[in-house]
Amino acid sequence: VVAGTNRAGCKSLMVANALVERYAEMDDVQVSLADLAKLPSDLLSPTSYANKPEAFQAFVDQVLQADGLHVVVPEYNGSYPGVLKLYIDHLPFPEAFEGRKVCYTGISAGMWGGLRSVEHLQGVFGYRNAHQFPERIFISRIFKNIDEKGWPTEELTRELTEKQLAGFVRFCDSLAS
Ligand SMILES: Cc1cc2nc3c(=O)[nH]c(=O)nc-3n(C[C@H](O)[C@H](O)[C@H](O)COP(=O)(O)O)c2cc1C
Repeated sequence: VVAGTNRAGCKSLMVANALVERYAEMDDVQVSLADLAKLPSDLLSPTSYANKPEAFQAFVDQVLQADGLHVVVPEYNGSYPGVLKLYIDHLPFPEAFEGRKVCYTGISAGMWGGLRSVEHLQGVFGYRNAHQFPERIFISRIFKNIDEKGWPTEELTRELTEKQLAGFVRFCDSLAS
């Protein structure tokens, strides 16, 4: 599960943690969190494309070992955060995303629930030949629509999230070979 921003105190991390907890309760599912706040800051250095910071290798290994990525994507200026693109741009081409299964939860303070950020990100993962799970969740008005553990408060969104998580696990299994 990728928490798709590094903003201190972000809601993305709360939602990502709630998803991690739920995946961890499922049979035969192993899950870990990629917290972009923990990216090495020298990833921004102009020389980091040729010489990756050593501390980035753990992020690379985590993706390469994952059957699927569930990305929690906040909306920043009508798109997804720059730090998420930086993370993607530094992961190895093509193996990081070629055939990797990807699932999305969009969140926003505003009314569109990260629809724009998710759809922009889908363009990137489409370019990288990822297998994209079609059931996406959008949580709008994030400051009032999640509880203190990051779980959606609205009944329908909770139900759809449960269905999405179970469906994504099946999706990963069915495409495993
Ligand atoms: C740089 C920046 C740009 C933002 N742009 C938008 C936006 O375009 N639309 C929106 O609904 N919310 C916007 N927000 C608010 C985020 O949706 C809000 O912070 C929300 O909690 C999800 O992001 P978070 O994970 O950083 O908490 C923006 C926030 C930041 C920090």
